[in-house]
Amino acid sequence: MKIGVPIEIKNNENRVGMTPSGVFELTKRNHTVYVQKNAGFNSGFFDENYVSAGATILDTIEEVYEAAEMIVKVKEPIEPEYKLIKPNQVVFTYFHFASSEVLTKAMIASQSVCIAYETVEDADGSLPLLIPMSEVAGRMSIQQGAKYLEKPIMGRGILLGGIPGVPPAKVLILGAGVVGLQAARMASGLGASVYILDINMKALRHVSDVMPNNVVSEFSSEYNIRKHIKDADLIIGGVLIKGAKAPKLITKDMLKDMRPGTVMVDVAVDQGGCFETTKPTTHQDPTYIIDEVVHYSVANMPGAVPYTSTMGLTNVTLPYVIKLANQGWEKACENDDSLAKGLNIVKGEVVYKEIVEAFDFVV
Ligand SMILES: NC(=O)c1ccc[n+]([C@@H]2O[C@H](COP(=O)([O-])OP(=O)(O)OC[C@H]3O[C@@H](n4cnc5c(N)ncnc54)[C@H](O)[C@@H]3O)[C@@H](O)[C@H]2O)c1
Repeated sequence: MKIGVPIEIKNNENRVGMTPSGVFELTKRNHTVYVQKNAGFNSGFFDENYVSAGATILDTIEEVYEAAEMIVKVKEPIEPEYKLIKPNQVVFTYFHFASSEVLTKAMIASQSVCIAYETVEDADGSLPLLIPMSEVAGRMSIQQGAKYLEKPIMGRGILLGGIPGVPPAKVLILGAGVVGLQAARMASGLGASVYILDINMKALRHVSDVMPNNVVSEFSSEYNIRKHIKDADLIIGGVLIKGAKAPKLITKDMLKDMRPGTVMVDVAVDQGGCFETTKPTTHQDPTYIIDEVVHYSVANMPGAVPYTSTMGLTNVTLPYVIKLANQGWEKACENDDSLAKGLNIVKGEVVYKEIVEAFDFVV
């Protein structure tokens, strides 16, 4: 199969859909991979790395879309790309159709085969192509939190791990899923005193089994949250209720119970946030302050660490890319139920229930 890897043109997107190692796996199976010039540059992968893995470099995005039977990328196509997508072409990427009517209409019109990373689903209901990004965001939340706790950036001026003779900071983590566990791992590793709250007892049992002694698990309730916020230095929001907006676990009135300079990192911002005072921010201007509490709520945290994020993403997408290339999309989806769940729009027809429900025009 002929596979194309274009440069990501969405604002501030530094990741790339395939690493040189992915190209190598495909070319060794006799597939042809076209990579756009400089596509991997911002992730730390250079054209010569792709060429030595067997790729052909093409100068323009038009050439890549024209040459490829399957496009592998990261973010949903944006307006300038709509006209480049051809009938029957497979596009394998994050789409998030339900949040964009314009994109949905454009992909219906393109008559392409759209397979969305975010809806590829394993038998246990987990979303394997989303997990690495939650892992990145969970680990990063502590890195960012530690930074904004510094006094010059308006934080409380406390070192997460303390020092001999001085107690460490207290970190409160809401949600013991992928984000919460990774945050707990980082915070405990730095020596902080960590409390992690969830409503799922299985998740709390897992925390208790695998985490060191400086991580305490506790059931998530308004009572317990109100108790902990009074002396927490750093609060991480990592809750998710699948398919729904995040519950507002920390309301505006609760901010007055916190100490000045407390830092709140709302990783769940992409689902509306689990703090009432959350509004999405960017890497250019990541924080704002309300009632002396520092808020960090960047909606695409993995974008700041494209090297790690690209590797993490392509580790999980590559096995599917290989199946799609070897078998063609129809056979690959027939043979793999997880991958079949990724089919969203097939040659003008919407085949994913949630997208049909999201828009009146889809029948
Ligand atoms: N900002 C970013 O860049 C970024 C990146 C990746 C993921 N995310 C987001 O982070 C959020 C968490 O993702 P995840 O992969 O960890 O999800 P997950 O499903 O693995 O974990 C969510 C956890 O929240 C728990 N939960 C639900 N209601 C709760 C409550 N009232 N109190 C405490 N816990 C509760 C669930 O039981 C579950 O254990 C999602 O909204 C995801 O989209 C954001």
